[in-house]
Amino acid sequence: MLHALGHHSLGLLSHYQKCRNHKLFSAVKIAIDAGYRHIDGAFVYFNEHEVGQAIREKIAEGKIKREDIFYCGKLWNTCHPPELVRPTLEKTLKILQLDYVDLYIIELPMAFKPGDALYPKDENGKFIYHETDLCATWEALEACKDAGLAKSIGVSNFNRRQLEMIMNKPGLKYKPVSNQVECHPYFTQPKLLEFCRQHDIVIVGYSPLGTSRDESWVNVSSPPLLKDPVLNAIGKKYNKTAAQIALRFNVQRGVVVIPKSFNPQRIRENFQIFDFSLTEQEMKEIEALNKNVRYVELLMWRDHPEYPFNDEY
Ligand code: A2P
Repeated sequence: MLHALGHHSLGLLSHYQKCRNHKLFSAVKIAIDAGYRHIDGAFVYFNEHEVGQAIREKIAEGKIKREDIFYCGKLWNTCHPPELVRPTLEKTLKILQLDYVDLYIIELPMAFKPGDALYPKDENGKFIYHETDLCATWEALEACKDAGLAKSIGVSNFNRRQLEMIMNKPGLKYKPVSNQVECHPYFTQPKLLEFCRQHDIVIVGYSPLGTSRDESWVNVSSPPLLKDPVLNAIGKKYNKTAAQIALRFNVQRGVVVIPKSFNPQRIRENFQIFDFSLTEQEMKEIEALNKNVRYVELLMWRDHPEYPFNDEY
């Protein structure tokens, strides 16, 4: 339940990134001590080295065993061609210094031109996309599972059509176990959640607290989630914060949450959601907050043929 680092950065590690990664190293250890076992990572977060180191340190201390941890890794857009999938996962495992990931997911359904640049652009500053064949990429993920490099495989930011494309693939060996998408009281995903329930696909909700509101990638025209009066009023009743109510809401409707925090107090706070439950009426009140507006729209890639957010769900 720990979102290891929320967003993308480019190029070589800056001094800022190094400090950030040190903070992350200690945040992962604090989270494990607080009881977190699910760690949501990605190559493209540039911190898998520190995450792996923190996990291994906790194992060496005897606090946890490897099998207690659930690490999710992600295949980046520039690595979709099937022949790149296994080497990419092997690179992640080498950085983590782990033998397997618990879950490996296709981070986004949009392929970019393979190569060293993670965000390839032409001389006019336009993103260079790549032919996307999600079924072929999926088959390469299936092979990673068969090789024992990933215990389970799934997807992220897939819409219904893209999920169906995988599930209807001739010769499908494993269906996606999960789809990681934005999900919180202002974007409750009722239709996708129902569809995924029917097909036994777990929804993992990212930005469950409404993001950091970093204007470089967040649609800040949608109001701040944690200031919501209903969440705060319900929180008062249980002596909980709006953040804890937002997390409890998702957990109680079967959505996995991956709140991101680097702050020790908030890391612990976000775990204290298992000692109370919301009434049916409160669940309904929170569901009614849905605005159907995303914080994470990824509009810079809206002209990609597989941009997932044009469909209703
Ligand atoms: P910080 O790391 O300083 O705690 P999301 O998980 O929706 O992406 O939200 C992450 C943002 O919410 C981060 O800016 C994080 O900041 C902040 N945050 C995390 N936990 C809490 C909390 N319990 N109360 C308020 N803000 C929080």
